Amino acid sequence: MNRYEQWDIVSSVGLTALVVAAGRSVDTHRADGLISDPYAERFVAAAAPPHPLPTRPTPPRDDSDDELWQMMSGYMGVRTRFFDEFFAAAGRDGVRQAVILAAGLDARAQRLAWAEGTTLWEIDQPAVLAFKDDVLAEDGAAARCDRRTVAVDLRDDWPAALDRAGLDPTAPTAWLAEGLLPYLPAEAQEALLAAVHERSAAGSRIAVEDFTDIGRQLEDPAFRRVAAGIGVDMPALLHTDDRPDPGDRLAALGWTVRRDVAVDVAAGWGRELDPLTRRLNGRSAFVTATR
Ligand SMILES: C[S@@+](CC[C@H](N)C(=O)[O-])C[C@H]1O[C@@H](n2cnc3c(N)ncnc32)[C@H](O)[C@@H]1O
Repeated sequence: MNRYEQWDIVSSVGLTALVVAAGRSVDTHRADGLISDPYAERFVAAAAPPHPLPTRPTPPRDDSDDELWQMMSGYMGVRTRFFDEFFAAAGRDGVRQAVILAAGLDARAQRLAWAEGTTLWEIDQPAVLAFKDDVLAEDGAAARCDRRTVAVDLRDDWPAALDRAGLDPTAPTAWLAEGLLPYLPAEAQEALLAAVHERSAAGSRIAVEDFTDIGRQLEDPAFRRVAAGIGVDMPALLHTDDRPDPGDRLAALGWTVRRDVAVDVAAGWGRELDPLTRRLNGRSAFVTATR
């Protein structure tokens, strides 16, 4: 039995999954958008969050909306596109297993053109996955791979649940931890990387969003205003305890690691991040590693 509080899609950390879905919707509808996620807007509409979230590139209504707006529209498309390409490259290289740790409302199973024979496991809290499945079923949205959901808390024995759901540790896997690490205490992050390592055959790879200094972001007045307006108690959700850099940790385990800094990735796609996004997320890094 899970010993933690469960959260749904409009409360606590579940609501953060809705916020990033809203960001993906905004990017989808930008003239210079970097991604296409038609499901993101549907999730937001179906959840009807207490504080409305923008899903289209329309002008903000007041100053705090403007901050929310900037936070969503600058960065989310960049990170989503980066990790979309990570999975596409894994497929080209013959990897047929993918695991999304804390999948939230990630609709890659439906959006991406997976290589034939790919199985994708999505791990998240039961209520988050149940909401997602309901909306996708209503839309008749079919997965373009063998999609399997694993409803478990990532602070519990998720590796056993993943094993039961059929992951083959002798075949290579592409893992993703996007928008996740600061929600985990240091020891859960350490256990997560160790479990990934243990189940990663040669040829496996992982992509991790490294927020680098989440404590600084939490202190930022604009970040605090926006979080309060949406109704998310971010200081209560995010862990600022000291922890090893995930890239260093993977390197110590023998993986070959690469870091791409968000502001540079964005520039490579012709996107200049707005000043607020640069301040909050510009130095975030997308860490990719291969084994
Ligand atoms: C900011 S959202 C990111 C979701 C998704 N990766 C994306 O980028 O759209 C954070 C997600 O982490 C999940 N999460 C956070 N802590 C978790 C835990 N301990 N166990 C399972 N899921 C967790 C939440 O339910 C939520 O879906």
